[in-house]
Amino acid sequence: MRSKTSTCRVHRTLLLALSALASCAGALPTAPLPTRPLVLSTWPFGQTANDLALAVLQKGGSRLDAVETGIREIERLSSDGSVGLGGRPNAAGYPQLDACIMDGPQHRAGSVAGVEGIVHPITAARRVMEATKHVMLVGEGARWFALEQGVEAVDTKDLAAKKDAWVARARDPKVDRAGHDTIALLVLDADGHIAGGCSTSGAGGKLPGRVGDSPILGAGLYVDDEVGAAGATGIGENVMRYCATFLIVERMRQGLTPQQACEEVVHRIARVDPKGYALDICFIALDKQGRYGAAASNQMFPYAIATSAGSEVQKVAAVTAR
Ligand code: GLY
Repeated sequence: MRSKTSTCRVHRTLLLALSALASCAGALPTAPLPTRPLVLSTWPFGQTANDLALAVLQKGGSRLDAVETGIREIERLSSDGSVGLGGRPNAAGYPQLDACIMDGPQHRAGSVAGVEGIVHPITAARRVMEATKHVMLVGEGARWFALEQGVEAVDTKDLAAKKDAWVARARDPKVDRAGHDTIALLVLDADGHIAGGCSTSGAGGKLPGRVGDSPILGAGLYVDDEVGAAGATGIGENVMRYCATFLIVERMRQGLTPQQACEEVVHRIARVDPKGYALDICFIALDKQGRYGAAASNQMFPYAIATSAGSEVQKVAAVTAR
């Protein structure tokens, strides 16, 4: 009897021969581009995170290491001004950070919300997932836990300087005080398993203690290893009231592509919400087959995609209102 390995080898040889024949004759479809591993994230700054995450995977690192490494870099850079400690302070002048991480196999997750002075909330979220029996820690408790776990932190007393800087900046009429650009990053690894993470300072000028969609599973991020994953950015209140990423994944389960599912959920929210399409929400999603998509309610939405074939920023226009 032929072994499984030699059968696979025969199949692979046959596929390669067919694919070569097809590219000569133009009669059969050529072999698809490799889609695994694949890293997808929000906004142009996501490209930096994607490239680091992909490098982790290509060196044999885990999908969780990839998610954490990519997001840590954006937290460190705080380049867009709304992720990490350099992000947007709340109404009291202090950044309070939200983050979560989720792993497809075993449906594990960890999350921190409203945490102050923690340099890498994504790492704190991963420690919640891996070192506790809980899923979510908030505020002082989340900070205490992160410190106890050795996650890099700054003295929260130092945040007073940040407040002064923020107040000075807030006087500048050119500064967009309300906007915020969360990083959500999704990874499909070479074995077809999925993980994701999300990190943000949330809306600038939010009330102290306000928690957005980003650390809430099913709102800012959702991963289901049977189907796919979705991540969100934009005004958290308009995402979390609809469990939007959970909904996107469930629509993919029912047969929609990631692109269709993202668009469908924007339309669904707009249909119900008093704001209509003026929601300021954007989504990314990928599925087990390596298909991906994105949609936005009322703006051009750039997002980043990386595979072994290349790394780039793509853009999607706002959905056309129905
Ligand atoms: N999407 C981030 C937030 O609203 O906090």
